[in-house]
Parts: sequence; structure tokens; C-alpha cells
Amino acid sequence: MIPCEIRVYLPYGLTDRRLMCDGVSLESIVERLGTPVYVYSARAVREAYRAIDEAFTGYPHAIHYALKANSTLALLRVVRQLGGRADANSIGELQVALRAGFAPDDLVFTGVGKTRAELEFAVAQGVAAINVESPGELDRIAQIAADRGVAARVAVRVNPDIDAKSHPNISTGLKTNKFGVALSEARDVYRARRDVRGLRFVGVHVHIGSQITTPEPLTRAAEVLSDLALALRSDGVALEHMDLGGGLGIGYDGRPALSAADYAAAVLPALRRCGLPVVLEPGRALVAHAGALVSRVVDVKVYPDSRRFAVLDAGMTELMRPALYGSFHRICPVVPRDTPDTPWDVVGPICESSDVFARDRPLPELRVDDLVAVLDTGAYGAVMASNYNRRLLAPEVLVDAGGWSVIRRRQTLDDILALEA
Ligand SMILES: Cc1ncc(COP(=O)(O)O)c(C=O)c1O
Repeated sequence: MIPCEIRVYLPYGLTDRRLMCDGVSLESIVERLGTPVYVYSARAVREAYRAIDEAFTGYPHAIHYALKANSTLALLRVVRQLGGRADANSIGELQVALRAGFAPDDLVFTGVGKTRAELEFAVAQGVAAINVESPGELDRIAQIAADRGVAARVAVRVNPDIDAKSHPNISTGLKTNKFGVALSEARDVYRARRDVRGLRFVGVHVHIGSQITTPEPLTRAAEVLSDLALALRSDGVALEHMDLGGGLGIGYDGRPALSAADYAAAVLPALRRCGLPVVLEPGRALVAHAGALVSRVVDVKVYPDSRRFAVLDAGMTELMRPALYGSFHRICPVVPRDTPDTPWDVVGPICESSDVFARDRPLPELRVDDLVAVLDTGAYGAVMASNYNRRLLAPEVLVDAGGWSVIRRRQTLDDILALEA
């Protein structure tokens, strides 16, 4: 297996100099499905789930997997079978979660700009909590619920002005970000609506960002939330849970990141102080390591200054993170040549200069038709794919129990054109 964080299960590794996923040959998958193709390890999802679940053993907790990381039905079913619940960010994600077999009270519903239709759907379903972004949204929910003669279960998302020390594009807990209600106003927002028909305050919510790899911001967020929950208790607002959001990062570079145990250690003292059951919304930490994007080299270009490009048949349309955040992904040839590593620019085929997976990456020699795997792409990979350049969405495969199956077929041109007049 590729050396990495010892406490994290990594499904991709070389056996007899061929890259495998849990012992299943990536070449055999490509032989049937072509490239590009996303491959996921069910075992990696289970191991990641168990790591978080075990880290919080002894403290009442619920793991609401954040669908935004990857919402392919078969993966959701893996999470559900483990006892997981769901965090949805749109009406589409709510509906997909229900189709995957989650019950309405397994769902929390987050999202910075929920439409009236989305709120009506969530209220009608009776989800476990709507994580509310503003006083205005609370009032809209109250109206919708009162019209139906029910009380909607709500939690206010607090913006604690804490720097998650992650990439600025995935930091959400600063006062310059659009998310949540300012901490200084949150208590009043609850107090002013304590007796409003149509609202039942069940929790407090925070999510300060994604790919967080240091414990301090997570500790501070938990402390802030705990203080707020205690203050609300003294105001007579009895809550049922504290929702700490997601954000637990992974080691994209193969070096140790914050483990589930580190995460629990960072937040449990604050949780214990207030005693409320905790809701966790991990996305990336559950599915990122599970995924690989397998792609073929379609061209090799050597410039006179000896810069070398390997052009893949996958690009920012399949995996947007490098173009969007400059993010790093390990790249492994599926059958690495026995040559010394030299620097390669690994790029996609899209007509955008940002369509680059890696610059100056030390890799063995690459030739046209070679296969490469872009690792740790189970989260924010397939879900962010697009049809730009009229490219078709790649198929997705789940490796489980020594076999594999197609969990989403490759899109066809007819699939896209069916929408057009
Ligand atoms: C509200 C909320 N919860 C959970 C998540 C999942 O975050 P992550 O994948 O970093 O765990 C996100 C992602 O941004 C989010 O916005």
C-alpha cells in the first residue's frame, strides 16, 4: 500500500507493480468501462466511518454524512447501512437522501440560500433540523410551518468569526463569509422567536470550513457553540443537540492529517461542558480516500525548454478541485515504469489554462495510452463534474468484497441532448 497516515485506511496500492483498489485491478475495470472512470472503495468508506464513530464512543453522537461531498446512491447506501444519517444542502440532495433510504428524521438541511420551495419541502417532510442561515429565513420557515399547522425543527447556524486555517475558498466561519448569523446576534435571534408558533428550536449549528487539519479552530468553534447552548438554556430555550458541521481534513499529500481521534479530543471537552448530544456532518473525511479517478494519457508533449506535459483524457470537467482551489492530488501510474522519477506537468484536455492536475510532479516515464490514477478524489470530485466542452460525465464504480459494480453508467450525448429543444 502507498505509505500514508497510519490511522487511515488507504485502499489503493501496488501489487506486482500494478495499482489495485482493495485487491481489484484498475486495468480490469478500464478494460470494460474505458476512461475516465471514478472508482470507489466501499471498505475505505466503512473504515473512515468507523474511525469517527469510535472516536466519539461514550458521548451521544450522530454522524450525518454531508452529501455534497459525493451523493451517488450506492455510496449513500453504504453510509446508511453503517447507521449513518445525512446532511443535505439542497432539495435535490434531500430527495436523493430519501431515495437512498434515509428517513426524514435522519436528515439535517443546510444551505445558505434556501428557496421557498426547498423550505416547504423540508418542513413538509419533517426533517430532523433545518440549519437556518438568517433571521429572515427563520421567519419564512415560521410562516410556512404555521400555515401547515406544524412547528418546524430548526437550529441557527452561527458564524463565530473563526479562521479555519484552510484554503480561503473553503473557509466559511469568518465574518467576511456569507454563512450563518453573527455570533453576537445569535442569542437574541433565538430569544426573540422563542415562542413563535411554527418554530421549534432543537439545536445550534456551526460549520467553519472544510479540509481543516489543525485542532485549534475546531476546539474554538465547539467552545463558542457550547457557551451559546448554555446561555440559551438559561434563557429557557431547551435544545436537543449541538451540530458541529463537517470540515475534518484528510492527508492529500500522504502525510498524517488530523485523525478522527484528534478531532474528537479537540471538541469533546467543550461538548461535555454543555452535555448536549452532538451532530457531526463529515463529508470529505468519509469518502475522499475511497476514490480514484482513472484516466488515460492521450498525448505527451515535450517543449524545447524540456518542460514535459502528459495530457490526460480527464480534466477539470471530471475533477475541478485543482483548477478551483489549486488543490494537490497524488497521481500514480497504474503500471509504473521502472524509470527514475522526473518532473511532469499532468494536465487535462480542456481549453482552459487552469486545467492542470499537477506541475513538476516527479513521476516515472509516461507514454501515450498509459493509465494513471488521481488519488483521494472520492470527495468533491464526481459531484462537481460538468459537461463543459460537451464532455460526458464519467461512470462510477464501487469496489466491494473483492468485486466491483457500476454504480453510475457513463453519460451519453443523448442523455444531455434529451434536455434540449
Ligand atoms: C454545512 C456543511 N456541513 C458539512 C460540510 C462537509 O464538509 P467536509 O466535507 O469538509 O467534511 C459542508 C461542506 O462545506 C458544509 O457546508
